[in-house]
Amino acid sequence: MAGVAVCPGSFDPVTLGHVDIVRRARTMFDEVVVAVGVNAAKTPLLDDETRVALFAAAVEDMPGVRVVAMPGLLADLCREVGATSIVKGLRGGADFDAEHPMALMNRHLSGVDTVFLVGAASLSHIASSMVRDVAKHGGTIDDLVPDGVADAVHAALEVRRNKGESR
Ligand code: PNS
Repeated sequence: MAGVAVCPGSFDPVTLGHVDIVRRARTMFDEVVVAVGVNAAKTPLLDDETRVALFAAAVEDMPGVRVVAMPGLLADLCREVGATSIVKGLRGGADFDAEHPMALMNRHLSGVDTVFLVGAASLSHIASSMVRDVAKHGGTIDDLVPDGVADAVHAALEVRRNKGESR
């Protein structure tokens, strides 16, 4: 499959599962654009710049992959970068249930189809929300995320603790 794939997400934080999907997408597409959702209504643990920088560092050895901030609609970004497909990873049926309406909406808005990839089974238990939770409760996340991410997550949690925030 030639063309340009966009891999969108919050990536709060990027995990080994995300990197696996991007690597698989890159074997199928000429270019992969990772789109980090920013300015979202929900407040992420990691700020926008950090989420972009951590993903960029995780794919720096992958030619044909770049990471951009996505401040608006995915459909607009698809037009901007000339996307031929949107790529999302599926860990199971619950992921599909969540992704299906988004795929329909994105096709409605942009005409671009979503391609679902199944990642490595060994990574299918990894979700950013759980990574944050494990770290928050003192568990080890180093083997769930790319290099440098665990330190950033712990630093952000420390900032929250110092501010007296519990999330
Ligand atoms: O990792 P997530 O939280 O599932 O990612 C969600 C994301 C960023 C892909 C989604 O919120 C998104 O596409 N945001 C951009 C705004 C948009 O286009 N919304 C309408 C399409 S459903």
